[in-house]
Amino acid sequence: GDVFTYDPGFTSTAACDSTITFIDGDLGELLHRGYPIDQLAEKSHFLEVCYLLLYGELPSAVQLEDFEGRVTQHTMLHEQMVYFYRGFRRDAHPMAIMTGVVGAMSAFYHDSTDITDPWQREVATIRLIAKMPTIAAWAYKFSIGQPFVYPRNDLDYASNFLRMCFSVPAEEYEVNPILSRAMDRIFTLHADHEQNASTSTVRLASSSGANPFACIAAGIACLWGPAHGGANQACLEMLREIGSVERIPEYIARAKDKDDPFRLMGFGHRVYKNFDPRAKVMKQSADEVLELLGVENNPTLQVAKELERIALEDPYFKDKKLYPNVDFYSGIILDAMGFPTSMFTPIFALARTVGWISQWKEMIADPQMKIGRPRQLYVGATRRDYVDVENR
Ligand code: CMC
Repeated sequence: GDVFTYDPGFTSTAACDSTITFIDGDLGELLHRGYPIDQLAEKSHFLEVCYLLLYGELPSAVQLEDFEGRVTQHTMLHEQMVYFYRGFRRDAHPMAIMTGVVGAMSAFYHDSTDITDPWQREVATIRLIAKMPTIAAWAYKFSIGQPFVYPRNDLDYASNFLRMCFSVPAEEYEVNPILSRAMDRIFTLHADHEQNASTSTVRLASSSGANPFACIAAGIACLWGPAHGGANQACLEMLREIGSVERIPEYIARAKDKDDPFRLMGFGHRVYKNFDPRAKVMKQSADEVLELLGVENNPTLQVAKELERIALEDPYFKDKKLYPNVDFYSGIILDAMGFPTSMFTPIFALARTVGWISQWKEMIADPQMKIGRPRQLYVGATRRDYVDVENR
């Protein structure tokens, strides 16, 4: 019969070829279409990186203006979707709402579900990138019982998102440009990360020919888990629980204890066996943002830095090559901006959407595309005859 490779967790299986993102886990290098992430985080901005990921090259000024204009035209949600939000309980996790709302988009935008039509694929792409901030902000507004804030298209992508999250009708709201730059940088750092669990989920879902909204909803659902995108929420909650520098050794000991399921959240990575280059930028950004907000003595940041220092010197973490990942410092910035921890993973989902769509587009356009269909190693009962219920 056929010979299969047995590789649970896909630790050594490449499922596709791709031209989008390159990671060298030993060097701690991350490139998008060849450009290093630290250069993109410093010099570029999120919508330009979206263009790069989607179309393969940095845009000219005209191309960028056209792209931003198209994204801006699509930021509103179909008004009927307001009722969809209202159907949730107020205490629903925003990730649950996002999974539902994005999946439901296929019921609202019939002209962008035919994946065989390049024009429809392009409209779906623009719609998803444009609407994701509105979708995430509305999930937040709903959860805190405030009215939805509609997008303002004279604002840039990050400022518009911050305004939809934090403005209320009775008050003037000015977006702090420093915060919007930090927000945009967080989006950029999360934009894509090759074949991670949620991206592989999107690819697998779309390999059946499912519509893009259904596939992105599948990606959001996968991202939610604490081993993946949910780690940013879990990490800040852990840092708060630790609470003070004196308690760090206790948690380090727990993380090393084989009989304790506790892990240091925001630490370790399947691919990086060195510093996550995104964590480096994020740490610097956390310092800047907290200083600008005048909260540099934030106890959570102090715990994080000391925890990082102690872990990096500890033989357990050294031997296993466990370093801080992207989720380690992002929560500290988001917390300082005023986001509750439940919004951390939705923000990751918002930003990762462009990566999911870029990978989806690449896959659909690939003439070798096949349905994803792993095999298994069957270890269950051998053939046996059915026994009537009275004889069991
Ligand atoms: N704390 C303590 N021990 C750890 C940790 C950690 N955070 N991560 C890995 N280990 C140990 C693990 O116990 C195992 O030890 P042993 O070989 O003795 O059994 C060894 O290191 C290898 O771990 P693994 O689980 O086999 O490695 P993996 O590649 O399957 O898992 C991971 C990668 C990211 C799921 C894992 O490191 C982890 O659970 N980290 C905490 C959650 C987290 O921060 N996730 C965010 C990932 S980055 C971006 C994202 O997706 O959001």
